[in-house]
Amino acid sequence: MLAAIAGLTACSGGQKVQGDYGTVPLPNEIKKQNGAPFILKPSTPVLIEEGDADMERIARYLAGYIKDATGKEPQIKSGDSDKGIRLTLDSDIESNEGYRLTVDENGIEISGATPAGVFYGIQTLRKSLPAKAEGRQIELPAVSIDDAPRFAYRGLHFDVSRHFFPIDSVKRFIDMLALHNMNVLHWHLTDDQGWRIEIKKYPELTRTGAWRKETVIGRNSGEYDGKPYGGFYTQDQIREVIAYAADRFVTIIPEIDLPGHQQAALAAYPELGCTGGPYEVWTQWGVSENVICAGNDKAMEFLENVLAEIIELFPSEYIHIGGDECPKIRWEACPKCQARIKEEGIRSDRNHTAEQYLQSYVVARMERFVESKGRHIIGWDEIMEGKLAPNATVMSWRGTAGGIKAAQMRHNVIMTPTSHLYFDYYQSEDREHEPLAFDGYVPIEKVYSFEPTDGIPEEFQKYIIGVQANLWTEYISTFSQVEYMEMPRISALAEIQWRTERKKDYNEFLTRLYRFTELYDRLGYNYAKHIFHTAAQSGQTVTDKDPA
Ligand code: ACM
Ligand code: ZN
Repeated sequence: MLAAIAGLTACSGGQKVQGDYGTVPLPNEIKKQNGAPFILKPSTPVLIEEGDADMERIARYLAGYIKDATGKEPQIKSGDSDKGIRLTLDSDIESNEGYRLTVDENGIEISGATPAGVFYGIQTLRKSLPAKAEGRQIELPAVSIDDAPRFAYRGLHFDVSRHFFPIDSVKRFIDMLALHNMNVLHWHLTDDQGWRIEIKKYPELTRTGAWRKETVIGRNSGEYDGKPYGGFYTQDQIREVIAYAADRFVTIIPEIDLPGHQQAALAAYPELGCTGGPYEVWTQWGVSENVICAGNDKAMEFLENVLAEIIELFPSEYIHIGGDECPKIRWEACPKCQARIKEEGIRSDRNHTAEQYLQSYVVARMERFVESKGRHIIGWDEIMEGKLAPNATVMSWRGTAGGIKAAQMRHNVIMTPTSHLYFDYYQSEDREHEPLAFDGYVPIEKVYSFEPTDGIPEEFQKYIIGVQANLWTEYISTFSQVEYMEMPRISALAEIQWRTERKKDYNEFLTRLYRFTELYDRLGYNYAKHIFHTAAQSGQTVTDKDPA
């Protein structure tokens, strides 16, 4: 059907190239219209209403995208000019991120209920243009597209603790999100191997906690590289990145992982740990047993003070407080932690140890603090061990069972299972020819097959607010490798997040993806090319791409 709407071939005469609405993610409703196509020429302006700053910014993005494709930047005009690409707001559009894109011979109109909707409309138009149309006119078939996302939360997680990435890389990461209609960057800012965000009240966090003396080679080989490593973001840089993201309708959700994954903080402030240290910023991978002392009020205040600065900086409704992988061995032996257990009347039962309930105590206390500031917490699914904090959103990573259970308890859930959405896992079985990765296997076809509401009774499915893939960076030290691990798997994720009714025809998806990679090429992304190998093996004809 899509082939009938638009083809890839150049039109006769060689001057025009054709657009194709079969992009990624595929718009939810594409209706071919009778009538002549619109011819996008260098003289075609982008039309907006006078004095609308949001729309002007979006128009400038669109002008830039068209220039990237054609070499000519269109003019942005306000008022009632005749033919052009008109961007408008339309309160009749139901979804606040939805848009309508109509094309006929007289022009293109993109309307949304909000500027965000218009932004997703221009993303679709951008992706419908041929990636390379230098000096050409582009023929866009008459069409009416009505589109809106399936999930309100469309996330991608980025660990900048294990390896640090400067703000220009984070901005490029945000551009990659926008290209895939995603709206959340889950920014994992702290962990055992490095604290990456300036906190004014605790300067040692970045003076000491942001630097490790060396890094283990490979998978905890026992050998170290002997090179000091680190970095952090100042609060000014953080504000700059938040603004950059907001301009592109991306919300940044910061994660301060607690009470585990805190060894870098303990290296800076050893008195916050059960043993008092000394501790070092960890130089190897894994889950450190050195966690925040849950019995020490100073340590609880430390966490609250850090969260207070985080909340001050980040405008997001949600603050991620981690909660994963917190070994209890220190708490079991710590007089202060044991005193807290007594004082709070915490008892073990058939399901959980007293120390697991102590973790619930910490998470609930942090939730109360975050809620007192008018925000909500997200935690990894371990926060369900013990007693789930009343308003917490659960991020289900150890499979989907935690998420299914949380949804049935009427808690909001974000699905991000290791089985389908851990992009630090290998994407090919041919490991010899892959960069070192986490010891797991998530090929793009597996990603594409994920269905976030499987196993959830219909009445609870509404609690699944979103889907996310995670990128842990133990084995990823360059941004080029970040791109390689994300792309093109992120395209399959975008389909899950955006499309309401997927037939899950993987081959049909691949056809669109092959074309989409031409845009990856033009944007200079270092994406993985396994899809071309697979196609070659199954005898499909693909593009003339060199399977590098
Ligand atoms: C996690 O992967 N530890 C949430
Ligand atoms: Zn303790």
